[in-house]
Amino acid sequence: MLLAALLLAQGCAAVQDRGVTAQPILIAHRGASGERPEHTLLAYELAIEQGADFIEPDLVPTKDGALVARHENEISGTTDVAAHPEFADRKTSKTIDGIATTGWFTEDFTLAELKTLRAKERLPQFRPGNMRYDGQAEIPTLEEIIALAKRASQETGRTIGIYPETKHPTYFATIGLPLEARLVAALKTAGWDRADAPVFIQSFEVANLKQLHSMTRVPLIQLLSASGGPADGATPTYAAMATPEGLKAIATYAAGIGPERAMILPASGSATPLVADAHAAGLKVHPWTFRAENFFLTPAFRSAGSLADHGRIADEIGFFLALGVDGFFTDFPHIGATARASTSARPAP
Ligand code: G3P
Ligand code: CA
Repeated sequence: MLLAALLLAQGCAAVQDRGVTAQPILIAHRGASGERPEHTLLAYELAIEQGADFIEPDLVPTKDGALVARHENEISGTTDVAAHPEFADRKTSKTIDGIATTGWFTEDFTLAELKTLRAKERLPQFRPGNMRYDGQAEIPTLEEIIALAKRASQETGRTIGIYPETKHPTYFATIGLPLEARLVAALKTAGWDRADAPVFIQSFEVANLKQLHSMTRVPLIQLLSASGGPADGATPTYAAMATPEGLKAIATYAAGIGPERAMILPASGSATPLVADAHAAGLKVHPWTFRAENFFLTPAFRSAGSLADHGRIADEIGFFLALGVDGFFTDFPHIGATARASTSARPAP
């Protein structure tokens, strides 16, 4: 009971997060990707309507150097590329970060070619309703996403930020399409290459974040996964990076960490000290990713029913907010907004 009260007290302490909001920030993971095909303007627009503070584009490059929003550079799972006979000969096999992959890759298409494709739902087995939007949306560029955030900020009177992730930075550098300079240039053009810009840049790799640290004043977020380690080999494991010593090292180049949820609340067991350890190192904590379907929820928050049915995602988000996280990624921004409001509204114990 005492522990619960302490956790609640931490959650009620509103976190001033870079002037964007006085609450933990709500980051729309790939847009409102629970309800629209991910990484489309449809998904980002809905996320903003639902109260997101930040929209998250994962970034990969085109052959001609544009940055576009896709979770991975292989695009057969999220676009109709396989149905385009004119691109049949682009299908190929590559090894990306040690994983053999066959399909169609953004770096083999010009932006004009990619713009002829249309997005489709990645998870039709969990989100069949989203398939009604298949074929409606283009792959958006970083510039289009920035323009949307700025337009929405004007229209809503809220500050809508972007939270871009550099995907496979070492791989793209090795093929002559490094992401970092292009990203920083786009932010500069937008007037967002400043410490107080409504932007966080995230990466699972270390070397490119250190490089970005010397290129921009925009705050950086070191992503951490519950297993494995950075693809650039900077350190052997993410687990080592999440120790107090590892967190101190991260704090030399990043403003925060983006840990997988299980690093804070394992599937079985109680909460780890990661939030407190990161705060002790001066780092913000933005865990990923809260999804409504039972399949994705921590077991304690699942409901009866199928793996596609929705469980108690609001309670799971509330639990993390009570632990004192400074923000969170969710596919369901409207649920995140409700959970955040309800946590903030709780009376102090
Ligand atoms: O960037 C936070 C979270 O999105 C990391 O995972 O694989 O969804 O990009 P992923
Ligand atoms: Ca991401």
